[in-house]
Amino acid sequence: MNDATGMPQTAVVLGGSSEIGRALLRSLVARRLRRVILAGRDPEGLAAVAKELEALGAESVETLPFDVTGVAGHGAFAADCAERLGQIDLVLVAAGILGDQAADELDPEATARVLTTNTTGPAAALIAFSKVLRDQGQGRLVVLSSVAGVRVRRANFVYGASKAGLDGFSLGLAESLRGSGASLVVVRPGWVATRMTEGMAPGPMATTAEAVAVDIVKGLERGTAVVWSPAPLKLVFAVLRLLPGALWRRLPG
Ligand SMILES: NC(=O)c1ccc[n+]([C@@H]2O[C@H](COP(=O)([O-])OP(=O)(O)OC[C@H]3O[C@@H](n4cnc5c(N)ncnc54)[C@H](OP(=O)(O)O)[C@@H]3O)[C@@H](O)[C@H]2O)c1
Repeated sequence: MNDATGMPQTAVVLGGSSEIGRALLRSLVARRLRRVILAGRDPEGLAAVAKELEALGAESVETLPFDVTGVAGHGAFAADCAERLGQIDLVLVAAGILGDQAADELDPEATARVLTTNTTGPAAALIAFSKVLRDQGQGRLVVLSSVAGVRVRRANFVYGASKAGLDGFSLGLAESLRGSGASLVVVRPGWVATRMTEGMAPGPMATTAEAVAVDIVKGLERGTAVVWSPAPLKLVFAVLRLLPGALWRRLPG
């Protein structure tokens, strides 16, 4: 169960080797998080996160194989996690790929891969875990969306559209959870320095995984429905959303 300050004691992370996810887990273990399931495709990456969290004081960190695109297994996977943890206080959906816009926009299968990994798979997983959380009558889903989905740009429309789909789906699911005891938080980071963005020029208001983790924890404490990271991006996008197409097109990269 969440503790008196609303912090989780148990968590499942889908995309358990994510750098943003790892930073959030470090912050949460420093609070009350004790038992964690890391789900993902890379056993070595998951084991490294597990080792770090245990060194920081987590009581048990299990690693389980999980591919977010394998939607047929999501129902059974969520039920298995619930059985292992008893109660699931928090589910972080961190799995995602950036893709390669220049190549993806010319390749139907590559485009589908980005959309399946970032939208279809996470949406199916959210449905599976929301069922568990509704049955528990408590628990929070935390979804790593992106500002790229707030207004989709020509420069990265495959990834941007995949996050727009996930973001809209998540907001709708959040509404459907009202009154159930369970809830959902949408996180919209800007450009974050992680291995996903390695080698790229930092975007405007670039931030770090640690700073995103701080913003998410603040959001959890306050019961915020949408967390922007860094926070001023909320205002920036309130303006950018309204820019006429001719101006929007002229914005750099
Ligand atoms: N970095 C940014 O600038 C930024 C900004 C906004 C939003 N985000 C979002 O934040 C989330 C975490 O990203 P990050 O920056 O922490 O990058 P990251 O370290 O590359 O994390 C992405 C995670 O997704 C996992 N993943 C990819 N495909 C998967 C699949 N089919 N099944 C299961 N897991 C899969 C990766 O694991 P593998 O080792 O198996 O590939 C990795 O653990 C992503 O959804 C990303 O889109 C990132």
